[in-house]
Amino acid sequence: MCGIFGYTGTKKTAANRVLKGLKTLEYRGYDSWGVAVVSDQKTESRKADKEILVEKQVGKIGNSVLKSDILNLKSNTGIGHTRWATHGGVTDTNAHPHLSCDSSLAIVHNGIVENFQKLKKGLNKSHNFKSDTDTEVIVHLIEDEMKNKGFSEAVRSTFNKLDGLNAIAALSSSGEIVVAKNGSPIVLGVGSGEYFLSSDATAIIPHTKKVIFLEDGQFAILNKKGISVYSLASGKKVKTEVQILDWKAVESTTGKFPHFMIKEIFEQPKVLRNAIISLEKPAIDMAASIKEARGTFFIASGTAFHACLAGTYLFSKIAHHHVNTAVASEFNYLEDFLTKQSLIIALSQSGETIDVVEPLNRAAKKGAKIAAVVNSLGSTIYRMGSIKVLLGAGPEIAVASTKAYVAKVAFLMLVTYALIGRIEEAKKLLIKSAKEIERLLRKENISEIKKIAKTLAKSEHIYTIGRGVSYPTALESALKMKEVSYIHTEGLAGGELKHGAIALISKGTPCIVYAPDDETFESIISNATEIKSRGGLIIGVGPKNSESFDHWVPVKDVGEASLIPMVVPAQLLAYFLALGKGWDPDKPRNLAKSVTVK
Ligand code: F6R
Repeated sequence: MCGIFGYTGTKKTAANRVLKGLKTLEYRGYDSWGVAVVSDQKTESRKADKEILVEKQVGKIGNSVLKSDILNLKSNTGIGHTRWATHGGVTDTNAHPHLSCDSSLAIVHNGIVENFQKLKKGLNKSHNFKSDTDTEVIVHLIEDEMKNKGFSEAVRSTFNKLDGLNAIAALSSSGEIVVAKNGSPIVLGVGSGEYFLSSDATAIIPHTKKVIFLEDGQFAILNKKGISVYSLASGKKVKTEVQILDWKAVESTTGKFPHFMIKEIFEQPKVLRNAIISLEKPAIDMAASIKEARGTFFIASGTAFHACLAGTYLFSKIAHHHVNTAVASEFNYLEDFLTKQSLIIALSQSGETIDVVEPLNRAAKKGAKIAAVVNSLGSTIYRMGSIKVLLGAGPEIAVASTKAYVAKVAFLMLVTYALIGRIEEAKKLLIKSAKEIERLLRKENISEIKKIAKTLAKSEHIYTIGRGVSYPTALESALKMKEVSYIHTEGLAGGELKHGAIALISKGTPCIVYAPDDETFESIISNATEIKSRGGLIIGVGPKNSESFDHWVPVKDVGEASLIPMVVPAQLLAYFLALGKGWDPDKPRNLAKSVTVK
């Protein structure tokens, strides 16, 4: 979480460049933001030749502008940060960058300094702490170290004292930036006479396609001369590879749509059609690797985990193949039995989720094979995979994942059928799914969903149930609705309801029931009836109406791929519930698109 951006170069517009970079990184954290630049202008109020000036604001960076005069200052160097708070509340004092006591140094940070209290105690009492953050200790430590070291050495020895998974960028009034990383991502951009640092490559691409991915245990110095990379352990220079990214600048507008979430929901048919072309070969190769492996494990978090769970059902039912599926953050406690023959398939939109990165590191140490299935080229997880699959869903900007979920399920559908040598069938099913989503997105069908959203808006709790492959759909629907509408929504396996949760059903409690035309239909309708007889309000989703339904959302049967269009009504419900309640569906509170802290 948190986005870091920095610039140094011949153009004297550092503040503007940093601000623009941060806007691209906003999805990483959006409770406050700030920019620091080295001013090389002497003015009435600023007597020093060079000093660091900072502006911070609380709130989303969105369309914000810099209010102080730092925007107009001639400055070659600056850093900035868009925050997702961990230590210290959301205030402008706690926003980054943080300054040293003499304002000659500034710091931005992504991660958590786990030992910051101990480090703070060890600092000379003369340091004046202004914020409640763990980050501020870093800049005071560097300031102390600089009493007997140069800037970069002071940053290196300070960074080596930090416990936890961190990335920092330190700015000196001399006009130099030092970045260091252990855990959180940092990409460096090599332009002509200008150099960049960023939490991800998308913010660098508009300036240059030449990038260096800083590795854990490395630090880099960025100054007028260019970029040099060193080892944090030895301080010695290391050889780096400049990679040319063949990317287009990220489309960062919502186009004809009011929000990214709805734009991305509408992009899903295109994502499915692309998948048929671009994911066919990767799916066949993956199936071959699965057959070779002795033990395959899917790991992922949140929505990506729901895709994995769906894959488990598809593998079992269609390919008669067993895979193990685990929530990534729990895999650390389940990996004792990994061997060199194990295959770990990690699914991730961002490719940066630390809960996925950590167990992958551990699995790699055991010699297990890693397959990275991600949507973000060049991301940490992508680079960790010996098998790399790019989902190709295009940039997903809304925090709530929609089209990346559909891309992941489509990929797993292709792999399932590839395992039994019938991939053509999967392709046909994906085309049918794309068509059905297009139908669901017609005006008249959207109006029906809007009406249901109005009915649900006053609910305190919503339940979603499904059986078999519709169980992951129920989980994913519940996650989508709760994260953007803030209504408590719980997804359950249909059969589980009577083992506890049914106690919560009372008059009018809404329950969304996934009833595809498959082997689960009779049983799920019987679960719906159990809820209805306790006063529950039933919203049925599927190809067939039922007496148990108070509302019916028809979704045509597309065979084994029915789970793909079945999730769309809940994506739409989530979106309209958020709008109805006046929330921003693209940036739900307390969340961030890329989760790089544990
Ligand atoms: C929910 C959502 C999250 C992510 C999760 C994993 O809509 O987006 O649950 O799915 O944080 O993220 P990635 O896929 O980037 O690893």
